[in-house]
Amino acid sequence: MVYEAAKRKKGMRNPGFISPDSAYHGDSIGAVSLGQVGIFHQSFQGLLFPVDKFMNPYCYRCPFNRGKPEPGISSIHWKKCHWECVDQFQSACEMRLRQTDEAYAAVVIEPEIQGVAGMVSQPQGWLEKISMIARQQNSWLVFDEVMTGFGRTGPDFAWQNSGMMPDILCLAKGLTGGYLPLAATLATQEIFSAFLGEYQDQKTFFHGHSYTANPLACAAALESLQLLRSTHTQSHREMLSQLLKDALNPLWDHPNVGDIRQSGTIAGIEIVRNRSQKTPFHWKEKAGIRVCHRLSQLGVLTRPIGNVIVVMLPYCANQADYQKLSSALVQALHEFSSATQLNHLNG
Ligand SMILES: Cc1ncc(COP(=O)(O)O)c(C=O)c1O
Repeated sequence: MVYEAAKRKKGMRNPGFISPDSAYHGDSIGAVSLGQVGIFHQSFQGLLFPVDKFMNPYCYRCPFNRGKPEPGISSIHWKKCHWECVDQFQSACEMRLRQTDEAYAAVVIEPEIQGVAGMVSQPQGWLEKISMIARQQNSWLVFDEVMTGFGRTGPDFAWQNSGMMPDILCLAKGLTGGYLPLAATLATQEIFSAFLGEYQDQKTFFHGHSYTANPLACAAALESLQLLRSTHTQSHREMLSQLLKDALNPLWDHPNVGDIRQSGTIAGIEIVRNRSQKTPFHWKEKAGIRVCHRLSQLGVLTRPIGNVIVVMLPYCANQADYQKLSSALVQALHEFSSATQLNHLNG
């Protein structure tokens, strides 16, 4: 949609895209092209269109972060830097303009927190800065809120925390509360109008799907949206966010917990071999998998992304569920550390 609209509205010859390191947008060729997770995407290199990459704000492991970890505080709050990652983005935009005579057609971002990257939260101000640079360049903003949409980070949509309204908003999961598959792509009037015209102009957006506007899925979405308005309101979600914070709090004392990154009702716990050195576990040690496996035995379903445990309870979870989450995490991590130390001692 952006590619075609950029040609029609901006007169671009070769609309180009840029996305942050470790971005994930799905598994179709377009989405894979926009993605920047090597292990998922590299085998398809020959099929993909080129997309530039810029540094993501992974403060915990950022080479420009001069801050020191503080117990109980997420890396985005103890970071000390001069926004070098933003400067790098600005340089990439300027280089694109110099080399091709065209700015990027769009910058594609998961706002507030990147999921598959390892629950990488963005420090306050990052999204505004990136978006302002994009706007100055007349590039469109595409925000992928497949994970963050429908209240996951607090407000209805994550972009609202920054006030930077996107030109394209990609939605899915939370639209039906996960009950039936349904996605939506929202566009500004400017982009929408690129596909309007007289019949003979042939400007129609010619890309539909067999199940577009599937009635059953739309009915589930309407019910789910109704629940968001009546029961799972922003204040309810704020209460859940506090329960999650309280549930995760005891984990900060754990020697293998390096960072905890929470955004509203979602969080990632990054486990490390050595906290003071931030030494990661080797992927072959299956650290995340082992912790999540134990959690499932304790009745809590989570998902690892490498060494990061993803926590994302549904909005119907109550205080007891969060308490169960907390004690299961404490137990699973304690057992994991004991086993790891034993392995270490045994050489
Ligand atoms: C941010 C983000 N974008 C896109 C997707 C892909 O969504 P789908 O599997 O519905 O294509 C996901 C799925 O996890 C996601 O987290």
